[in-house]
Amino acid sequence: MDMTPSETLLKTQGLGIQFGGLKAVDALDIEVRKGEIFGLIGPNGAGKSTSFNLLSGALTPTSGRVFFKGEDVTKLKPFDMAKRGLARTFQLTNLFAGLTVIDTMLVGAHLHVKKGLLASVFYTKGYREELDQLRDEARRILATVGLAGTEQASVDALSFVQQRRLEIAMAIATRPTMLLLDEPAAGLSPSETADLGVLIQTLNQQGITIILIEHNTRFVMKLCARICVLDYGRKYAEGSPEEIVANPKVREIYLGRDVKQDHPEEHAHA
Ligand SMILES: Nc1ncnc2c1ncn2[C@@H]1O[C@H](COP(=O)(O)OP(=O)(O)OP(=O)(O)O)[C@@H](O)[C@H]1O
Ligand SMILES: [Mg+2]
Repeated sequence: MDMTPSETLLKTQGLGIQFGGLKAVDALDIEVRKGEIFGLIGPNGAGKSTSFNLLSGALTPTSGRVFFKGEDVTKLKPFDMAKRGLARTFQLTNLFAGLTVIDTMLVGAHLHVKKGLLASVFYTKGYREELDQLRDEARRILATVGLAGTEQASVDALSFVQQRRLEIAMAIATRPTMLLLDEPAAGLSPSETADLGVLIQTLNQQGITIILIEHNTRFVMKLCARICVLDYGRKYAEGSPEEIVANPKVREIYLGRDVKQDHPEEHAHA
C-alpha cells in the first residue's frame, strides 16, 4: 500500500457510547494520520479509556462510526482489530506468572492476533524453523523495549517497569500499524518516564502510529504533534501542544477541577 505521511489511518465520526444515562463518549470526531503520535488528554472520567475500548472493539458504540485504513470497523471485535493492525497494551503479565519472558511473548502474540500462527508452527514440516523465526523476532522486540537478556527470566521476577515494557513488547509482537497506549507512564519515576518517551519515539520511527493517553501533560506535549482534549466525553479542543497550552478553555478544565493526585506537578504546568 502506498501511504503518504498525511494519510488518515484512523477516523471516528460522531462516535458515542452511553452507559445508562451517562454519555461516556459523545459525538467524538477524531482523525489520526499515519505516522503520528496523537495525544488524548482530559480529566478523570473524561472518556479517554472508553474511547480506546471503542476503537479497539472492546466496546460497541451506541452511535457513530470508526474507520481504520478506510474500512468501516465499527462493529469489529478486538481480535479482528488486532488482525487489521490495531494493538493495545493489556496488564496481562500477572496472567503469565511462572512463564518465561520469551514464552510470554510467543503466547501473547498468539492470543492477540496470530490466529493459526502457532498452529502453523506445529503442523508444518519446517516448524522448528518457524518457531526459531518467531523467537528471533520476539528477541529483537525485547531488545527494542530494553528487555534484552531477560528472555529466560520468569515474568513475575521482572520489576514493575520491566513488566510494563513487556506489555508493550507483547503488543508490538502482533506487528501493529497502530498502537494504543493508555497511561503508559503511570507509576513510573521521572527518569523511567523519560526512557519510556524514548521508546515511544523509537517505535514511532519504526513506523507505528501511536495514540497516547496520559495524565502527565508535559510528557504528552513533548511527544505529540497533535493533541485532543476530552471532557465529559466530548472533544473540548484539538491542536498542537502550543495551541492546547494557550487554550483558555483547556486551562480552565485543568485548573478548575481535580487531576490525578499522583502527578501534582501538572497543576503548576497547566
Ligand atoms: N462499563 C462502564 N459502565 C458504566 N460507566 C462506565 C463504564 N466505563 C466507564 N464508565 C464511566 O464513563 C466515564 C468515562 O470513563 P473513562 O474510564 O473512559 O474515563 P477516563 O478519561 O479514562 O478517566 P481516567 O483518567 O480516570 O482513566 C466515567 O464517568 C466512568 O465512570
Ligand atoms: Mg482511563
